[in-house]
Amino acid sequence: MIRVGILGSGFIADCYADSLLDVREAVLTANYSRNPDRATAFATRWKSRTHHTDMTELCASADVDLVVIALPNEAHVEAVRLAASAGKAVICTKPLARTGAEAAEILRIVREAGVWHGYAESSVFSPSLQKAHQMAAAGGIGELLTMRAREAHSGPHAPHFWDAMSAGGGALLDMGCHTVESARHFFGKDNPVVEVFAHGATVVHGDKTTGEDTAVALLKFEGGQLAIIESAWTEKGGMQLRHEFVGTGGRLVTDTSVTSVWGFIEKPVGHLVEKSGADTGWVYPVPEETRAYGFSQQMRHFVQSFETGRTPLETFEDGWVVNCILDACYRSMSTRTWEPVTFAS
Ligand SMILES: NC(=O)c1ccc[n+]([C@@H]2O[C@H](COP(=O)([O-])OP(=O)(O)OC[C@H]3O[C@@H](n4cnc5c(N)ncnc54)[C@H](O)[C@@H]3O)[C@@H](O)[C@H]2O)c1
Repeated sequence: MIRVGILGSGFIADCYADSLLDVREAVLTANYSRNPDRATAFATRWKSRTHHTDMTELCASADVDLVVIALPNEAHVEAVRLAASAGKAVICTKPLARTGAEAAEILRIVREAGVWHGYAESSVFSPSLQKAHQMAAAGGIGELLTMRAREAHSGPHAPHFWDAMSAGGGALLDMGCHTVESARHFFGKDNPVVEVFAHGATVVHGDKTTGEDTAVALLKFEGGQLAIIESAWTEKGGMQLRHEFVGTGGRLVTDTSVTSVWGFIEKPVGHLVEKSGADTGWVYPVPEETRAYGFSQQMRHFVQSFETGRTPLETFEDGWVVNCILDACYRSMSTRTWEPVTFAS
């Protein structure tokens, strides 16, 4: 049984704890929050064996094999350092880091410590993208040519996302990291993104952030494929998570946040869907969000890979490449020209 410790007690920590219920080879043995009340509440909610208010203590615990980092972007590097120096395998949520250089530092830490690592990029594990990927890989749409993807909602739920200086960026970093990785997943990780062009603007939330709340980026792959990714914190009415793939022999469309339940309600009924925007009127709840968005499939894959000593589908190397591609997008936003992707070390 793999013993898992979760760092964090917010939104994504809850998703990860929920996803562990679907992994029969793993058990949640420890959780950490800076706030003792939140640490206790999380432990009670998810039946964690022990709770901690000291990250070092959780990482050093003999009852933890695998540390899962569910903390804000600015806390990832330090958390990876603590887990790796305790010799623990480590999973880090997306984005791996705030810049390619910081991601390179994270990669250096795990390589030097020789610990197993998984980059928790959930999108590629969602059932919709997994099915589309399987169909594309089987040649169903011929040679892949283009991808168009959009990930959007009305804006983050916590202040750390809005502070672009400490978070490392705005909507492009926060949401674009998913769609950049979708493109790499479909077009091939041995087929690098060579050049990017991006535009970003703060069109709605200038009172809250200096980061972009709207962005579009074009990614050119060495093999000639083109990906268009759109990221926004300006879109009301719930999550948007869509992909379109075009190939020489057809096309594939995915809509990860589409639902099989909808209705008109006059009285609020509690949680419907992440960032639903409305709790009465016409509503579109997503059943089993943890599974629909791929969190359970991701956690199962990571635990089984770690248990059997395999390299997972998503590693910190992937997180580093994504950060480097996003760095080039941010450079393009300021130079207003195509920018080559360079790899920070
Ligand atoms: N699809 C996904 O994989 C996905 C979805 C949402 C968020 N995320 C990522 O998860 C991370 C956290 O986002 P969230 O939505 O859970 O945020 P959140 O605000 O809901 O939770 C963050 C948690 O970290 C704690 N925290 C904040 N600063 C800290 C610090 N300096 N040291 C220790 N603890 C600290 C908070 O108290 C809280 O428990 C971000 O990197 C975000 O990009 C990933």
